[in-house]
Amino acid sequence: MADLIHSLDARYYIDPQVFEVEKAGLLAKTWQFGCHSSDLPDSGSYATFEIAGESLFAVRGKDEQIRVFYNVCQHRAHQLVSGKGKSGVVVCPYHAWTYELTGELRAGPNIKSVEGFDRSKICLTEVRCEEFLGFVFVNLDPHAKPMDEWFPNARQELEEWVPNWASLKPIEWVEIPENCNWKVSVENYSECYHCSLNHPTFANGVVKPETYDIQPQGMCLRHTTECQSLESMTYDIQSGMEHFDEYSSWFLWPMFSFQVYPGNVLNTYHWRAIDANQVVVWRGWYSVDGEESETVRKLAVQDRETTVEEDIHLVESVQKGLHSRGYRPGPLVLDPNCGVNSEHPVMHLQKWMREAIDG
Ligand code: FES
Ligand SMILES: [Fe+2]
Repeated sequence: MADLIHSLDARYYIDPQVFEVEKAGLLAKTWQFGCHSSDLPDSGSYATFEIAGESLFAVRGKDEQIRVFYNVCQHRAHQLVSGKGKSGVVVCPYHAWTYELTGELRAGPNIKSVEGFDRSKICLTEVRCEEFLGFVFVNLDPHAKPMDEWFPNARQELEEWVPNWASLKPIEWVEIPENCNWKVSVENYSECYHCSLNHPTFANGVVKPETYDIQPQGMCLRHTTECQSLESMTYDIQSGMEHFDEYSSWFLWPMFSFQVYPGNVLNTYHWRAIDANQVVVWRGWYSVDGEESETVRKLAVQDRETTVEEDIHLVESVQKGLHSRGYRPGPLVLDPNCGVNSEHPVMHLQKWMREAIDG
């Protein structure tokens, strides 16, 4: 048994110091979801969010480009904006220093009285950002590789599975608090060894478990499966698009997943770690122009009442178990042929997790 691959030690999931290491390292060096481009409809639209304990904001410039900045004034560090809104310039509420949408300092009361004050030397601190199917991702590491290198082919594949992505807007964005470490929730998402026993609706009415597989694709874990036989499907999947009879998901390490339900229905998971023992999962569902869609709404409700609800109990029980003095990490079930009853994606995840924490 000693040479088998065992699950990670409990301390990785319960130790507050491990969480601090992740906040300073992992969260600040990976691509993290910030906001949806529909939050930034016009030039001057902005939206704030937090990543790795840092307040940031995205703003659409006069050139239509989206830029992301640390939400801090370069004068004496007051926060610049909060929530969402629209403004032709960014005005600090403390002493009214005013910045262009590109971050340059434009004006400040009485700054001309200061001899040698060079306005052009002052600029908000910009953060790397990328638009990925209309989702704005940011990376606090200025040297980070682009998303296409982290997640090879994911963008092209998603464009194929969701050809109408450019017209999609959120119709539902549900917050699901879970009392567990974010890694427990992400691992649970990344294997279907527990599906037939715990997710009868998903396993019998959405996907065909015997075709389910998950494989790494760079730092993405790609789920693929056929849908259930049409008469067993819980909803109408005839979208008229290619891939309508498949289910696929692209988990982008470490905390975001694009999921496409049969019928080309895009939905997302976004994990936000609160502390070592708490995570909030945002489930997003999208429709053309964000307009009411009976299919999407019903599917979102079905998913929330079955798969999501069923998973909450699993992950919260695991978190309690990880605090038990009686737990010795067991061997992962690694089937050489992979497939639905293999935990090989958990092995890949745990390797990435260990590297992020232990260096
Ligand atoms: S801190 Fe922003 S203008 Fe003074
Ligand atoms: Fe599950």
